[in-house]
Amino acid sequence: MKNPTIAIALLLLCALNSLAQPVDSAQPMSPQHHLMPVPAAVQFQMGRLKIDASFTASAVGPADARLAAGIQRAARRLEGRTGLTFSRAPVSDPQTATLRIECKGPGSPVPSVSEDESYALDVTDRQAVLKAATAVGALRGLETFLQLLEGDRIGYYIPAVSIQDRPRFPWRGLMIDAGRHFQPVEVIKRNLDGMAAVKLNVLHWHLSEDQGFRVESKRYPRLQQMGSDGLYYTQEQVREVIAYARERGIRVMPEFDMPGHATSWLVGYPELGSAPGPYAIERKAGIFEPAFDPTREPLYKFLEGFFTEMAGLFIDDYIHIGGDENEGHQWTSNPQIQAFMKARGLKDNHALQAYFNQRLSEILQKLGKKMIGWDEILHPNLPNDTVIHSWRGPASLVEAARKGYDSILSAGYYVDLMYPTWQHYQADPVAADSALSEKEAAHILGGEAAMWSEWVSPDTIDSRIWPRTAAIAERLWSPRNVTDVDDMYRRLEAISVELEELGLTHEKNVAMMLRRLAGSKEIGPLKTLVSIVEPVKHYRRNQDRSATMLTPLTRLIDAARADSEAGRRFAALVDGLLRDVPTFCRNQERIKMTLTDWRDIRPALDAMIDKSPVLREAEQLPRDLAEIGGAGLEALSYLAADLAPPDGWRDARLSMLEQAAKPKAEVEFAIIEPVRKLIILAAAMPGLKSLPQSQWKDRVLTLTAHKGR
Ligand code: ACM
Repeated sequence: MKNPTIAIALLLLCALNSLAQPVDSAQPMSPQHHLMPVPAAVQFQMGRLKIDASFTASAVGPADARLAAGIQRAARRLEGRTGLTFSRAPVSDPQTATLRIECKGPGSPVPSVSEDESYALDVTDRQAVLKAATAVGALRGLETFLQLLEGDRIGYYIPAVSIQDRPRFPWRGLMIDAGRHFQPVEVIKRNLDGMAAVKLNVLHWHLSEDQGFRVESKRYPRLQQMGSDGLYYTQEQVREVIAYARERGIRVMPEFDMPGHATSWLVGYPELGSAPGPYAIERKAGIFEPAFDPTREPLYKFLEGFFTEMAGLFIDDYIHIGGDENEGHQWTSNPQIQAFMKARGLKDNHALQAYFNQRLSEILQKLGKKMIGWDEILHPNLPNDTVIHSWRGPASLVEAARKGYDSILSAGYYVDLMYPTWQHYQADPVAADSALSEKEAAHILGGEAAMWSEWVSPDTIDSRIWPRTAAIAERLWSPRNVTDVDDMYRRLEAISVELEELGLTHEKNVAMMLRRLAGSKEIGPLKTLVSIVEPVKHYRRNQDRSATMLTPLTRLIDAARADSEAGRRFAALVDGLLRDVPTFCRNQERIKMTLTDWRDIRPALDAMIDKSPVLREAEQLPRDLAEIGGAGLEALSYLAADLAPPDGWRDARLSMLEQAAKPKAEVEFAIIEPVRKLIILAAAMPGLKSLPQSQWKDRVLTLTAHKGR
């Protein structure tokens, strides 16, 4: 032991500390609101409004069916959370209802990008008063009211508060790709409920892909008959979804991706393609060659017929025409298309696509629809009332705004890529350092989280969307200066639980999937493992291309979730460890318990893997975890004892960690960084201890600095 005095002193201090303080849970001690998105202006006051069985809610002013239904839904959710039963009798005096809603009018009959969604909510110890210009504003305020609910030993209550709220951006969406993997109506509906809970207002429904055409066309029935494997939405179901969304103040914008990503159309209508066919529904993930032939007039006749039918079905002002990732290989190899381009002076495929977009724009204009497409459609010949949907990077958003196009952002909001919430949270459509003028910035309407569905099933899609999309919703609704990442995570955990009451499966399906993998109800060790791994990020899944759209999505990677909460908590404990002596003492016991768990869990995991061949791909993970846990424990004991580890220990453990950090079974550990920190600090610690506390912190930071979090 290098310095027994310090070690003994530390032990003694820890013993004293444990008498005085509860174990730190890495949570702030004081109760704080968990509103998400944070309102534009919120002021808490003294007092509380009791919520008990006498709770009533009533609208005064013009009757509105949508608002009345919203009030009923809110009351049922409040009952569900509190266990109280509210009276179903009409409220005798709406003026004195516990929650009085003053709504000036119904708002637009069809949800619109220009809807007034503002509201004001004032809660005193006598009454809550919610005021809004439209039913949609009132619905937004009801969600805030529900998020305010607190409980203590006395009972449930809403804290006294004054809130004035309005969205920062008018376009706050979630795109769901129903093309790659079909998502049944109940999946769409529960996600609409989740969207409403966090004040999102656009469902962008991606309905056609190489892998599936998902809407019934009565005019061109071979689209769904031959292009969908029987998995498509009937027109009645589409109307049902649109009505469901409208009830919640949410627009439904369809996307029909063209001229590329169009294989499924060509199965039934090969004559629309740029090569003769025949075509089959695509089963793989990727970018494929089939594309419409934009040089042939019958294509436009077909599209006019198709969009006329769809414009009658989808009532939103906007239709998304996709336009992404058309590489034009079929165009290049088709002499007739090349001749057409030459005759018209279209110098490349991009120019031909611009020609196609102009023709589409004319069709949609005639139908009273506005056209929107992915950023590839930006071209000097693009009609200026087109909206640009930026996905390849924020540069196209800026370029579009500068050129006077309205635009929305999805770059930074691809939830399919499994990035942590804080990264999405930092993507701002109009960042503080934006060089755009006010007029240019006004063209940026907002953004959309994007849920591409190559690797999601109805069982897993919620866990890819939620809760991370709630943080994106906050970025799009709340003032720009709401950027505290730790506070976002604190609130996100609370919101995630509330989202479950809407039927979303992002939490509960993890256990279901683990039971299926284990073939048993006993999943404790597997639960621990899955809580600290994450699916590989970006486009690193399926690099060997062995999986197709028919492959079951029931593996460990499918149960694992992005942005491991357990990993984040562990990292917070390690970061706190070296802050000061009290935190060291509080956190070290927790860290030790966790590391011990990881070190010792291997036999139980090995036994589960032995019984479930489907888990065999993950057999290296328990071995890695045992080593990670063991190394962390060694580091912790060196740190606690102020003991220098032997020569070579640091490098050996870091190299072990490097191996353990490599993905296996397409998941990666989310605990590598904090253990790396422990190892580095343990090796440097004896020297560190002699530094004054002020320099200590800087030194710790320098030693552990690493790109990423
Ligand atoms: C896209 O991700 N291809 C829009």
